[in-house]
Amino acid sequence: MNMSTILWLHGFPLTSRIFEPQRAIKGVEHVMPDLPALETMDDYARFAVAQLDARGIERATFAGLSMGGYICFAALRLFPERVSGLILIDTRETADSEEARKGRFETIAKVEQQGVAAVADAMLPKMVMSEALKPAVREIMMSTSPEYVKASLRAMASRPDSSPLLPSINVPTLIIVGEHDTITPPSDAERMAAAIPDAKLVKIPNAAHLSNYDQPEAVNAAVESHA
Ligand code: MLT
Repeated sequence: MNMSTILWLHGFPLTSRIFEPQRAIKGVEHVMPDLPALETMDDYARFAVAQLDARGIERATFAGLSMGGYICFAALRLFPERVSGLILIDTRETADSEEARKGRFETIAKVEQQGVAAVADAMLPKMVMSEALKPAVREIMMSTSPEYVKASLRAMASRPDSSPLLPSINVPTLIIVGEHDTITPPSDAERMAAAIPDAKLVKIPNAAHLSNYDQPEAVNAAVESHA
């Protein structure tokens, strides 16, 4: 993979600080934007590509963590020529079920009443296995704005099913999943790996949903060895 640039797209409800451990990956330009409040995955894909435009970068490996993976799929649909490789971390290709969509709007109502803490406290137990890392993850979640949290929930609820895209992906693809991820479990990663031609799947032991933060050394090694 030509990994001269990796564009890291974070998950929900997070900021680019969740990729701090990946800065240890050497020999690569890391672009790590904070995602703003936008209403659709296509808007997020346009935002992502604008980050490359602003730096004069033509093509990059797109690395998406969870919601960031949903953005990668939108980018592949809209701007395939800008994507030279893919790293899909703890994510899935399918759209929300009706029930999940309903849950998104219930969560928006909770954020309106209780602020971001309502989401942060509900999600924290599933984010990382390491107890020691939980305060830092909560702090990152609490640093996000209610506007971004609510807009991201609407964007995730309306995202299309990306399954039809997978067989046509023709860039080197690495799929990473925490063995204990219960939000986007290893079965999601296995399904994507089976559908994307020549995709490589790496399961990370002792890691939950934010495998890159829970077990940075293992994830960084997987990224570095993905040639
Ligand atoms: C994320 O980590 O980005 C979200 O949990 C993904 C989701 O809720 O679908």
